[in-house]
Amino acid sequence: MMTFQLCNPTEIRFGKGQIATVGDLVPTDARILLLYGGGSIKTNGVYDQVMTALADRPVEEFGGVEVNPYYETLQQAARIGREKGVSFVLGVGGGSVIDAAKFLAAMIATGLDDPWDRLAADPGSVVPLPNGAILTLPATGSESNPVSVISSTVRSLKIPFASQAARPRFAIMDPTTMLSLGRRQLENGAVDAFTHVLEQYLTLPVNAPVQYGFSETLLKVLIEWGPKLIETRSEEACENVMWAANQALNGLIGAGVPQDWSTHMIGHAITALHGIDHARTLTMIMPSLLRYKLKDKSAMLARYARNVWEIDERDDGRAAELAIERTEDFMARMSCPVRISQAGIELDPQAVLDHLQHANQTSLGERADIKGDDVRRIIAMAA
Ligand code: NZQ
Ligand code: ZN
Repeated sequence: MMTFQLCNPTEIRFGKGQIATVGDLVPTDARILLLYGGGSIKTNGVYDQVMTALADRPVEEFGGVEVNPYYETLQQAARIGREKGVSFVLGVGGGSVIDAAKFLAAMIATGLDDPWDRLAADPGSVVPLPNGAILTLPATGSESNPVSVISSTVRSLKIPFASQAARPRFAIMDPTTMLSLGRRQLENGAVDAFTHVLEQYLTLPVNAPVQYGFSETLLKVLIEWGPKLIETRSEEACENVMWAANQALNGLIGAGVPQDWSTHMIGHAITALHGIDHARTLTMIMPSLLRYKLKDKSAMLARYARNVWEIDERDDGRAAELAIERTEDFMARMSCPVRISQAGIELDPQAVLDHLQHANQTSLGERADIKGDDVRRIIAMAA
């Protein structure tokens, strides 16, 4: 196993009715900035639950955080936050809002009107305001991880910022909030979480049976309960997908193992260029990327084939190929594109390479050996 340090201080409150307890979690003297997105929380009752729970506490609001949140919008929120003397940021929504809340907490703390360069250079150098998360869409794991993925219109970029100090103090996960989600968001969420596990699992094998065993359980849960969630929206399905998506990217399965975030970095570039939903950019690239790297990843792909898909095949290479086919079938079953053309876009490989260059993401993969020409070939295979 590789050496690792792991500290996840986010307090989880999971289950129906837990939003009512948010008042116990926010410091009593806090001036709260409630951050939300395009308004779903106002129509599905979540906003009312939050405001009732915060009763007489001072709350400022900032709504309108976009999907794939924009830095320029958060600059406006930061100005308001500073003017109003906000001391706590509460994000209520999906990954976009929660990412935005964590990043905003750092932006306000810098005291700068344009802190992009400072935060891009060293996000860990800023001690953000404390923040908390109320999750309404399981997908990203943002509610208890250190990452914010932020887009900038001015820079034409979408990049991740990671700061351990930005992890939410608490994450409230009430699976009943998922009942107002559309089918597409449910599909996206289950598939995004699935790829998060794969990018921490399908790399170079090390001595990590705990991480691999847990990853396999999460994958099996998502394969079983993702489709059930779409079909039934049962209480069990909402609970299982919400919890699995959280565990998929809270740091645990990635501790001590090599990781490969190449599909994600290429996917972020595609969203920056074409505005496609995050999860769908991943499914259109990942199967081709796995085929391209099949030889290097064959040991873990073969393990994945046998332990997750129960493929009875002695030859590792063949087992790996079959596992990629099953992965593709699962993504297609979740109505996600597994080829770029299925998303109805013409992707210019050079534009993706330019984005990766601009974002300093030029050596991808667990061996840092996926370079520009490899990305070009992967995009050609995924066409
Ligand atoms: O804006 P509102 O009105 O809230 O509507 C949202 C949005 O339109 C809606 N929604 C959320 N909860 C709802 C709901 N509608 C009805 N009922 C509910 N309960 O769903 C739409 C999508 O929301 P969004 O937050 O954008 O989705 P998601 O959670 O998939 O987040 C995607 C963002 O997270 C980033 C992605 O790149 C993307 O920007 N990621 C963050 C990661 C992290 N922090 O670790 C890792 C991920 O790999 C990912 O990159
Ligand atoms: Zn993702």
